[in-house]
Amino acid sequence: MSNYLSPNDLAREVCFKPNFFQTKARINFLINHYLSLEKLCHRLEDLPRQWQYPQPRPWQNINWQNINSEQIIGIDLEVFLSIIAGTADTEAPIRGYTQTSRQYLEKIHPAMAKFVGGLVTENGTIIELGIWEKEERQHTPALIKIYQQLTGKKIIPNFRPAKSYQPSRNPYADLYCHGIHRVATEYAAVSLYLWLMSHTTGEIQQVFQEILQDEINHMTKFWGFGLWLYSNKNTVITDKSESGVNCHRSYISRLISTFRRMMTVLHWDSWTAIDKIELIYTFICVFQCMQSWSNNMTATNLQQIFDSSNFNS
Ligand SMILES: [Fe+2]
Ligand SMILES: [Fe+2]
Repeated sequence: MSNYLSPNDLAREVCFKPNFFQTKARINFLINHYLSLEKLCHRLEDLPRQWQYPQPRPWQNINWQNINSEQIIGIDLEVFLSIIAGTADTEAPIRGYTQTSRQYLEKIHPAMAKFVGGLVTENGTIIELGIWEKEERQHTPALIKIYQQLTGKKIIPNFRPAKSYQPSRNPYADLYCHGIHRVATEYAAVSLYLWLMSHTTGEIQQVFQEILQDEINHMTKFWGFGLWLYSNKNTVITDKSESGVNCHRSYISRLISTFRRMMTVLHWDSWTAIDKIELIYTFICVFQCMQSWSNNMTATNLQQIFDSSNFNS
């Protein structure tokens, strides 16, 4: 089938047997659209408003019953299904993730802790959910629905317990190690969903679009927070104390294990060489976008957004 410009396709030109360059053009189009400097800035600048009037990003209506395998472009159906099942696993258990992150943030930036993990009483009862949790908890059910529409079978995610809060004497180093891992998982999710959008059309692509926008939102906010908090605190991270050295070791080994785990759950071994090259290409492009956005952020911009004295009350 030849290429055509579809008014409904979100990556513009659809080709049902795409070669690398055709998919690359779709990836580039999506990156320019969803990761523009303007959109990334807007996602970060949205934080103070979220602290005052928390509001999850609404999803557009999706006609779930229209989902069908013809909406998958240029990926083997079995490989696609194993990616969906693996991704549903890594998205869960969101409650564990949000509460661990909230604990690392609580002493350092209460408003950010609330955005991530909501409000919790001293005995641990959650009285208000965080926006991060409200947005993320839609992802696993959406992936399960795609799988179910395509196969008639329901997948049950393998819930792995989230790593618990393990404080040391240096809360800034603890948050740094934890935060790097958090940003890395959001970044990996952005790259994966963007690549999946380049290989789908119709309702499946619409679902990935919604998840992608949530992940971009979170990646930008967490990355921006890290930029603000650690730009003047190099000593915290590069200190030669036991906790500083352990922090470095643990975050590097955690990052490696996060990417290894991602490859395993996505059944990377069954991917074609082109699939792998495309995903690596997407990772590189997303990183470049984030770097140019980071370089564009000034200390004053960041201070205006994160100055906790304005938002702790
Ligand atoms: Fe997610
Ligand atoms: Fe996420």
